[in-house]
Amino acid sequence: MSAVQIISSLSYILASGLFIFGLKMLSSPATARRGNLVSAVGMLIAVVATLAGGDIISYQWIVVGVIVGALVGASAALRVPMTSMPEFVALFNGFGGIASLLVGWAEYHRSVTAAAEIPFATALPIYLAVLIGGVTFTGSLIAYAKLSEKIDGKPTLFTGQQILNATILIGVVACLVAFVASPTGPYAYWFVGGAIGLSFVLGVLATIPIGGADMPVVISLLNSYSGLAACAAGFVISNTVLIVSGSLVGASGIILTNIMCKAMNRSLPNVLFSGLGAAVKAGKGFHGEANPITAPDAYFILEAAGSVVFVPGYGMAVAQAQHVVRELGELLEKNGAEVSYAVHPVAGRMPGHMNVLLAEANVPYEELVEMDEINPRMDNVDVAVVIGANDVVNPAARTDESSPIYGMPIINVDHARTVFVLKRSLRSGFAGVDNPLFFNENTRMLFGDAKQSISALVTEFKEM
Ligand code: TAP
Repeated sequence: MSAVQIISSLSYILASGLFIFGLKMLSSPATARRGNLVSAVGMLIAVVATLAGGDIISYQWIVVGVIVGALVGASAALRVPMTSMPEFVALFNGFGGIASLLVGWAEYHRSVTAAAEIPFATALPIYLAVLIGGVTFTGSLIAYAKLSEKIDGKPTLFTGQQILNATILIGVVACLVAFVASPTGPYAYWFVGGAIGLSFVLGVLATIPIGGADMPVVISLLNSYSGLAACAAGFVISNTVLIVSGSLVGASGIILTNIMCKAMNRSLPNVLFSGLGAAVKAGKGFHGEANPITAPDAYFILEAAGSVVFVPGYGMAVAQAQHVVRELGELLEKNGAEVSYAVHPVAGRMPGHMNVLLAEANVPYEELVEMDEINPRMDNVDVAVVIGANDVVNPAARTDESSPIYGMPIINVDHARTVFVLKRSLRSGFAGVDNPLFFNENTRMLFGDAKQSISALVTEFKEM
């Protein structure tokens, strides 16, 4: 082993270690930013080690790629609003998928041109990199288009869809068997080409029957696929750091998918196939007299409160109310109240959505509490302030067996002494179900845009 190879291997071990530590740090809001940086440094080391230790024919295209990629990535990351993050991540996954496909294809083409043998241990990963990469690419593009409303978010269904899917799957397996049996045979190109074509179609067909609202779960799954495709590409070119990073992305993506499904009380097959005929529950309708309240009246209740829990939801993201929420929290604390922010795991539209917004507004991490921590204490809370949240505080999830969200763990705000619900109307949220919380005796509806309502409360505190 040459000195360059030893340094390159050590760099890969260092990079892999940094990925693992970075990933671990992402699990807490307090360390997430640093975790991102640590992983990015790991990636830089991996790229430099690969370029220094590999057989590079020409650096000029690599430099062009780095410059173009950096410019596109940086400008997009700077411009994309936080609420569009899921579709942005979808695009990234898609690019990861197509990159793995191209690595698999290029390596195959290189081996064939050089008349080299392709052993089974290389042929299988080539096929998998191409197949999973292709599915990830087109699946992610559809997910992006649905989430950004470039195409209709509703499930797209047509007669014979399941038969078509099954036929494509059979085609994929047939090409796989034929290709690995004779990867350098006269028809092998056709089998790899067939896999590319089928994977593109499969990615589209697997994603179109899923409703736009379930797309964040699908994106997390596609993220996992992009990791698996990268892992396969790592085996193709015998690059250990690509195998490690691909496995980490694959495993963390599937764990996140599972967490999201559990928190929504859905199974993954239900998310993936509900458009294809699984029974969709409607839930009971709840009607009654909601009690509205004005900001000045709400102020008097808050002013007398000893403990206040804010429960943010998707509406806080839409209203961009996080900064005024933090301001109100500080005023309440100055007034002697104990303040906390209860975050439901699927509040908003992407994992950690509320945590990101609250962190952006500099809400102290120690004031963030998880659902399991706040629920046992909810009976002793004076006021629960629900800011643009709906499904994640819907008591029907505990009581209405016909509800699509039945069984989903919720933040039990209805157990607090008083509940303020800040939203614009009595309309339903993401799940499309009525919320009996709005008609409870201890609930007061503060109608309007969440930012304006909270700002009005801040003004009351400042004026009094
Ligand atoms: P939702 O149940 O979607 O409710 C959000 C509420 O915000 C709406 O009812 C809306 O009511 C209100 N709103 C919208 N704009 C507002 C504004 N400017 N000011 C005040 N209120 C506003 O949100 P949630 O409680 O956060 O629940 C999240 C849902 O998304 C769950 O069903 C979850 O399963 C689903 N989901 C989450 C994820 C992740 S990972 N977070 C992924 C996929 C799906 P008005 O129109 O009356 O104002």
